[in-house]
Amino acid sequence: MHPEEKKVLVTGGAGFLGSHLCDRLVEAGADVLCVDNFFTGSKGNIEHLLGHKRFELMRHDVTFPLYVEVDQIYNLACPASPVHYQFDPVQTTKTSVHGAINMLGLAKRVKARILQASTSEVYGDPEIHPQTEDYWGRVNPVGIRSCYDEGKRCAETLFFDYWRQHNLEIKVMRIFNTYGPRMHPNDGRVVSNFIVQALKGEPITIYGDGTQTRSFCYVDDLVEGMLRLMASPPDFTGPVNIGNPGEFTMIELAEKILKQVGGRSTLIFRPLPADDPRQRQPNIDLARNKLGWQPTVPLEDGLKNTIAYFRRLLKP
Ligand SMILES: NC(=O)c1ccc[n+]([C@@H]2O[C@H](COP(=O)([O-])OP(=O)(O)OC[C@H]3O[C@@H](n4cnc5c(N)ncnc54)[C@H](O)[C@@H]3O)[C@@H](O)[C@H]2O)c1
Repeated sequence: MHPEEKKVLVTGGAGFLGSHLCDRLVEAGADVLCVDNFFTGSKGNIEHLLGHKRFELMRHDVTFPLYVEVDQIYNLACPASPVHYQFDPVQTTKTSVHGAINMLGLAKRVKARILQASTSEVYGDPEIHPQTEDYWGRVNPVGIRSCYDEGKRCAETLFFDYWRQHNLEIKVMRIFNTYGPRMHPNDGRVVSNFIVQALKGEPITIYGDGTQTRSFCYVDDLVEGMLRLMASPPDFTGPVNIGNPGEFTMIELAEKILKQVGGRSTLIFRPLPADDPRQRQPNIDLARNKLGWQPTVPLEDGLKNTIAYFRRLLKP
């Protein structure tokens, strides 16, 4: 199962996480087919790979079937931030559900191993803390976040039914908040928001009172977890949490960013959006035991690289 022997399909490969995954796969010697409809992804994210002989880009929407020959599929296609997934909620559910059906169908036809980029959002606003994989979640089925949360939950169901019914080799990864270079600058995610506001010298917007906590995983750690999961023995399907258990309040995060960026931004407080979870933190014991994985990049270091990326991006 070494990536260097493989033809690998990455859906959503021009996005934030997908582009870093393509980098690592090409580096490891895989033949990479990156599929994206460029809804939130960009050619800029994969520009540096375009001339590479083992990298190919295809514009395609995963809600339509795809016929290619591959050995492994990483299914990442889906807008990931509320601003984007709420723009066309019906399309978001279609991307998760029809996208999963199409990619699972492809995996079945060509006998490929397939990994689903699921999310901590499947836990909704959780009653237990930190969340373990056997927790079923507390999700509002009819709210404004439901197109994403329920779409991802249904995709997990499909993965497990293809596994039970068709013996497919599946891997389900529940990704917690991840940050790093190539995040979208205007997608409302907290790390990019704070950094962009700080770099522009604008006030930093905190929703609620700023005491709600989040955990932040640096993208390099996340991609390492993804590769390890794909390479894990066939009987390990997940779902498995991949994220950083270190917890920070929104105020702490803002202060860390301000310390690195400098400038004179102040903090301003706005009402909390609907269904915003108060606290989310992964329990990563399963990933530690089964994949020998744990995050290694401290928040300060990851922020340093991310701030450097946004500085370049925002340069006039
Ligand atoms: N970044 C995180 O913190 C995080 C957390 C949990 C889960 N995830 C999951 O990881 C995956 C990647 O997230 P990301 O942060 O890189 O987001 P992103 O928006 O940068 O990447 C998603 C990519 O999918 C593409 N896409 C969207 N709809 C498509 C469609 N119908 N057909 C083909 N391509 C399509 C987009 O153009 C984009 O390139 C998503 O599935 C997301 O749900 C991410």
